[in-house]
Amino acid sequence: MNDMKISDSVKFVGVNDHKIDLFEGQFSVPEGMSYNSYLILDEKIAVMDSVDRNFGEEWLKNIENVLSGKKPDFLVVQHMEMDHSANIAAFMKKYPDSKIVSSKMAFNLMKNMFGTDFSERQIVISEGSKVELGKHVLNFIAAPNVHWPEVMFTYESTEKILFSADGFGKFGALDVPSANDWTDEARRYYFGIVGKFGANVQAVLKKAANLEIQKICPLHGPVLDSNLEKYIQYYDTWSKYEAETDGIFIAYTSVYGNTKQAAEKLAEILKEKGCKNVLIKDLARNDIFECVADAFRYKKLVLASTTYNTEVFPKMREFIAHLVERNFQNRTVGFIENCSWAPLAAKTMAKMFEPLKEIKILEEKVTIKIAVNEEVEKQLENFAEKLI
Ligand code: FEO
Repeated sequence: MNDMKISDSVKFVGVNDHKIDLFEGQFSVPEGMSYNSYLILDEKIAVMDSVDRNFGEEWLKNIENVLSGKKPDFLVVQHMEMDHSANIAAFMKKYPDSKIVSSKMAFNLMKNMFGTDFSERQIVISEGSKVELGKHVLNFIAAPNVHWPEVMFTYESTEKILFSADGFGKFGALDVPSANDWTDEARRYYFGIVGKFGANVQAVLKKAANLEIQKICPLHGPVLDSNLEKYIQYYDTWSKYEAETDGIFIAYTSVYGNTKQAAEKLAEILKEKGCKNVLIKDLARNDIFECVADAFRYKKLVLASTTYNTEVFPKMREFIAHLVERNFQNRTVGFIENCSWAPLAAKTMAKMFEPLKEIKILEEKVTIKIAVNEEVEKQLENFAEKLI
């Protein structure tokens, strides 16, 4: 759902960003981005988080429209990253009687950001703290490193709503037709932004398992209000670094088309041998973070690259670095290398995987010397056998 009403008492006051090209300076967002903020109306009124710096006026207007002359008592700050915190000072200026409800660490970050931690107007909360609004009660759950250290989730126990900060968020604005297509863009978001912190996600999922949750209100993407088990199951699988599918992902870079030809030949052989679930992508021509998400999605990964500057092609190095940064694990990985005179790509790639745990590197590799010929096809046959 993406209408503006969550319930009679809980309203959406967030914004959609269609001007942004790269979210957090690196993730492409062709469908824009939403910065969600919510307002809870009760005897006391709470606003949940702020929005990106470019949308301060719109956000304050949204709040004013819902309040119809009333004043908010609290601004709850769950997360201090700037896409949610940029307008805290503007809010505090506009509503001088409001207080900020947030963690100690978030107040420290506020001082860095605004030159003040609003010391006279703080309500410091931590794991287990409660703030009563009237009928609604905010229960705070620490979610450290999902994906910043100060992050708190908030469970509103009367309407059973989990406010999950960046958790369960996705790329894409809320006023586009694909707004509710959650899985692919939520996966790309998760592995792009949160992927490194699987253990921390597991810890907060365990706490959430004790709660009866009817709605999840994240800071990006749609409010989730049905089939919640599905979304929680995805987060459980992703944060355990388990594959979603038993398939094989072949990621390649190719300068003149020969490595691409070998990668495609391998896909063909695998399919002939009964592997139905084979995905093949050119790392230079596909979104790199979609490829990162695909690597986590599939059980087995084949990397095909030319040798370049006595190492590996730059796009492949970048791709592997993204995987390493995100604690890629629990997977089988195999290599195809190409060279004109000295094959070094497979060795370079294997070395990059060394710091990772639970990675099985396939002993067999395929070495192409410029072109795919009969001998290379034999290698690919053997490689496919071993991979299966
Ligand atoms: Fe959406 Fe971590 O900020």
